[in-house]
Amino acid sequence: MSRRTSLTIVLAAGEGTRMRSATPKVLHQVAGEALLAHVLKAAPNGDGASLAVVVGPDHAAVSDEAKRVRPDAATFVQRQRLGTAHAVLAARDAIAGGADDLLIAFGDTPLISAATFERLRQPLRDGATLAVLGFRPADPTGYGRLLVEDGRLAAIREQADASSAERAIGLCNAGVMAFDGRRVLAILDKIGNANSKGEFYLTDAVAIVRDLGLEAIVIETGEDEVRGINTKAQLAEAEAVMQARLRRAALDAGVTMIAPDTVFLAADTTFGNDVTIEPFVVIGPGVSIADGAVIHAFSHLSQATIGKNASVGPYARLRPGTALGEGARIGNFVETKAAIIDAGAKVNHLTYIGDAHIGAAANIGAGTITCNYDGFGKHKTEIGAGAFVGSNSSLVAPVTIGAGAYIGSGSVISRDVPSDALAVARGQQSIRDGWAKRFREAKTRGKTKTAK
Ligand code: UD1
Ligand code: MG
Repeated sequence: MSRRTSLTIVLAAGEGTRMRSATPKVLHQVAGEALLAHVLKAAPNGDGASLAVVVGPDHAAVSDEAKRVRPDAATFVQRQRLGTAHAVLAARDAIAGGADDLLIAFGDTPLISAATFERLRQPLRDGATLAVLGFRPADPTGYGRLLVEDGRLAAIREQADASSAERAIGLCNAGVMAFDGRRVLAILDKIGNANSKGEFYLTDAVAIVRDLGLEAIVIETGEDEVRGINTKAQLAEAEAVMQARLRRAALDAGVTMIAPDTVFLAADTTFGNDVTIEPFVVIGPGVSIADGAVIHAFSHLSQATIGKNASVGPYARLRPGTALGEGARIGNFVETKAAIIDAGAKVNHLTYIGDAHIGAAANIGAGTITCNYDGFGKHKTEIGAGAFVGSNSSLVAPVTIGAGAYIGSGSVISRDVPSDALAVARGQQSIRDGWAKRFREAKTRGKTKTAK
């Protein structure tokens, strides 16, 4: 099979006002990733695949996100919002590059899959000029209806222009299309704006293809894959669909989850073998969990690497830049940030470890705090392998505790501690024999007097 080149154009010039947000619509997130990023990742990638994103005039942030996800993406600005065909033509220079297949997708449809893009390209190989992704929504109101005659797609009628008979049609346009790249410019240039909205409708391409005696066909998919996001409620619905998919994929990959519906994953979460995730765990972007690790209940992780057989939580918060070595243990009410915690180290209770490196098999006692911030800058704490930090110690960074050193409980450590040394930095203990007894007796005498 000869490989066909492709250009995918993603339309992302949405105004997004119904989101009631200062953030452009396509930068809202599902499973820890922008709506646009999901679409760009599903679009054909690799050899022979190119990508263009059409953005609105003030949306530099949208272009930046496109470049971050797909550095090969070209961006084009649609200065006036004159319709979907007009938006596609904003990328005319990219289209003129002459890819075999031209794919069009919307930036606000994050659940679209790579397989669907490939399904749409197949009819082009078989000689069709246009393939349109169709679906049968529970409520078709607002969508373009697909008019099929003699098994062929004859036209798409937008809701505003449809007769009542056409509005009764359940098969709708999902918005994703694949065109024969050799013919697409001629077709798009024929599209006018004589309709009730005065917009240049991409959907008019279907009737033009038919009038040219060429073939347009429909490929159907399920509603879940083509949900478009216009409101916060729809964003939450898409999140639910995506979470269900991610949980299912994790279970299929062998992750043990006692209550999967309570676990939230990110699109890029990766798992080794025999990972266990207990209920009510939230995993943000950039997390990888290696073989045999256990994430206990009510933990929150983002941008963290969990080593083999490591244990996290319950009630742990692992913030960006956390990396746990093999068998490391993070216990309850522990917060970590930019913390490299080597193999076998233990941080088991009520502790903050930030901007720190903890050597292998070190033991960090309950209530230890790395004092990493002085109000101006962040400073580093270095703890050597096998060191023992007694409970309730404050480690005032920058500070280094040598390998095998011992820190007495309750110390405030502000100077470096050599390897294998003991450092104690706290008030001296004094003992007064019998004091408590005398105190109690004096108090009791006073009480009996006043009671009389
Ligand atoms: C469009 C389709 C409709 C389909 C529906 C699926 C057309 C004319 N209609 O309708 O058949 O059922 O999507 O959701 O194509 N955009 C721009 N610039 C513009 C106009 C739109 O970039 O000038 C982008 C939007 O940001 C959005 C996409 O194109 O991502 C679709 O535009 P929208 O206005 O949502 O079209 P619909 O009315 O939903
Ligand atoms: Mg829409």
